[in-house]
Amino acid sequence: MEALALERKAEQHRELKERIAQLKKERNAIILAHYYQRDEIQEVADFRGDSFLLAQKAASTDAEVIVFCGVHFMGESAKILAPNKTVLIPDERAGCPMADMVNVDGLRAMKKQHPNAKVVAYINTSAEVKSETDICCTSANAIKVINSVDSDEIIWVPDKNLGDYVSKFTDKKMIIWEGYCNTHDMLTVKDVEEMKAQYPNAQFVVHPECRPEVVKLGEFVGSTTAIIKYCKESDCQEFIVGTEDGTGYQLRLDSPHKTFHFATKYLVCPNMKVNNLKKVVKCLETNSPQVYVPPHIADQARASLERMLQVK
Ligand code: 13P
Ligand code: SF4
Repeated sequence: MEALALERKAEQHRELKERIAQLKKERNAIILAHYYQRDEIQEVADFRGDSFLLAQKAASTDAEVIVFCGVHFMGESAKILAPNKTVLIPDERAGCPMADMVNVDGLRAMKKQHPNAKVVAYINTSAEVKSETDICCTSANAIKVINSVDSDEIIWVPDKNLGDYVSKFTDKKMIIWEGYCNTHDMLTVKDVEEMKAQYPNAQFVVHPECRPEVVKLGEFVGSTTAIIKYCKESDCQEFIVGTEDGTGYQLRLDSPHKTFHFATKYLVCPNMKVNNLKKVVKCLETNSPQVYVPPHIADQARASLERMLQVK
């Protein structure tokens, strides 16, 4: 972008950020932003985090309004955990294709086939699906959650890649749904090998939503938060990052002198990027779109989320 266009954009962002700060005060609102959001949204957030941390923050905040900058299932989880609060999302179209890969009918059919199994749902599921599950998890606590479940047989929905990774850390029989994240699943062994050849001193850090053969190449495997922590604490100065490109914001903030290469230019979740500062302003001004979860679904889904929050 030309210097003038960049300057204009920066000025526009400054104005929008000032308006957001004012609206936040007026509405007693907080902004929660997932690490995959655009940099400028992460800059205005009260809390940045992965799905687990943001669910915890939604459950414990005193604010009256939560603006959830992420994708739809995250806003739903916030509403389920904080039912008396107004939960706003900047754009209703920010969905998660992986969450849409499992529905209640399919899950019920699987439960019928495996009547002794307990259902563990990745938090990337709809409220309706959560209401049919025994416990939720995120990539940050999946192994702990699986091993905490009182059953030798687990139905795991919806991410087959994370399911494969987790199955290596448990003796339980895992019946794994065939879903996947369109973004992480895009990364190939060839992409990683090419990057490793180009940057021989870099370590490859990878999210377990990537394909098993890609995860195998990781010098470190972990959730978004685990990757951020590892890169910050490691003595290594250069990394090839196998997770969504928005993570670069926190990585660079924590370690401005280290170098981060994203494993391919395709590691961008388009759904996460539909939110922008203008839409944050608009949702606070208009008090919409609001997340709504029918109370009978919310009650059952809450039990599953709360069980997850209790796993130590
Ligand atoms: P975490 O936030 O749990 O790392 O999940 C990654 C993801 O794809 C969220 O949509
Ligand atoms: Fe869904 Fe993948 Fe995007 Fe996360 S990164 S919201 S799992 S599509």
